[in-house]
Amino acid sequence: MSVVLVEQDGPVGILRLNRPEVLNALNSAVMEALADQLTRWDRDPAVRVVILTGNDKAFAAGADIAEMAERTPVEMLQSAQITRWEAIRQFSKPLIAAVSGWALGGGMELAMLCDLIVASETARFGQPEIRLGVMPGAGGTQRLTKIVGKMRAMDLVLTGRHITAEEALQWGLVNRVVPVEQYWEEALKLARSLAAGPPLALALAKEAVLFSLDSTVEDGLKFERKVFALLFASEDRREGMAAFLEKRAPQFRGR
Ligand code: HXC
Repeated sequence: MSVVLVEQDGPVGILRLNRPEVLNALNSAVMEALADQLTRWDRDPAVRVVILTGNDKAFAAGADIAEMAERTPVEMLQSAQITRWEAIRQFSKPLIAAVSGWALGGGMELAMLCDLIVASETARFGQPEIRLGVMPGAGGTQRLTKIVGKMRAMDLVLTGRHITAEEALQWGLVNRVVPVEQYWEEALKLARSLAAGPPLALALAKEAVLFSLDSTVEDGLKFERKVFALLFASEDRREGMAAFLEKRAPQFRGR
């Protein structure tokens, strides 16, 4: 059985982590499968949005501790792990995490790499690496701090405690919290609505928002102004504006 199940629902690509016996712990095979499929889908115009999910009990309980336990520092530094995380970060289309149950350590970091998070009420988030004698290594001190601010990041990173979906919602770490029976439908509904949007504008809007995390407001505004103007070259902006004026639904084609 594959460690990541790959499905497609029309324009929505679905990646389902599939190591339930270890709460979807992220080993090398999982990270490789995720990065490879996202790289493939990035080039495939038929896929417009991707949902990354696990099962009701676990999104992912972190890096695979059994695999990590015997690693040397040099192996950690040289492992392809880093380029795989980078490949996921480079994915240009909207990426939604549908999270239920555990999202810990690398699992929480993976969810934070996504653009939107739909959580079930049973979701639990945390960066428990400190309890293993290490610290977060894939964005848990950087992306998390940008999302929730210094004090809350320190709380999670230094204590290793878990927070509930409700607390994560209050902190702005997730977008929506719904009962466990509904999180999948909610994520799919969100994905389908994004998939009906203009693909070029979605990709550039995503890039511009991410750009703001690493740039000054001045540089960010310059970038925003340019990509905004660039979109006026697209057929989809003609279609979007014409559809509005003609009082009909737009048909975006990604051109
Ligand atoms: C390997 C794991 C695992 C993990 C759980 N399992 N998490 N195996 N790596 N991260 C396995 C358990 O060993 C166990 O296997 C089975 O999954 C069920 O887990 P239990 O502990 O029995 O379940 P439960 O009592 O419900 O507790 C759930 C839990 C706990 C709170 C999530 O499993 C836990 O604390 N897991 C570790 C979480 C963690 O520390 N994550 C951070 C990892 S470091 P058996 O064979 O006993 O049934 C990290 C660094 C990222 O992520 C760096 C990226 C580069």
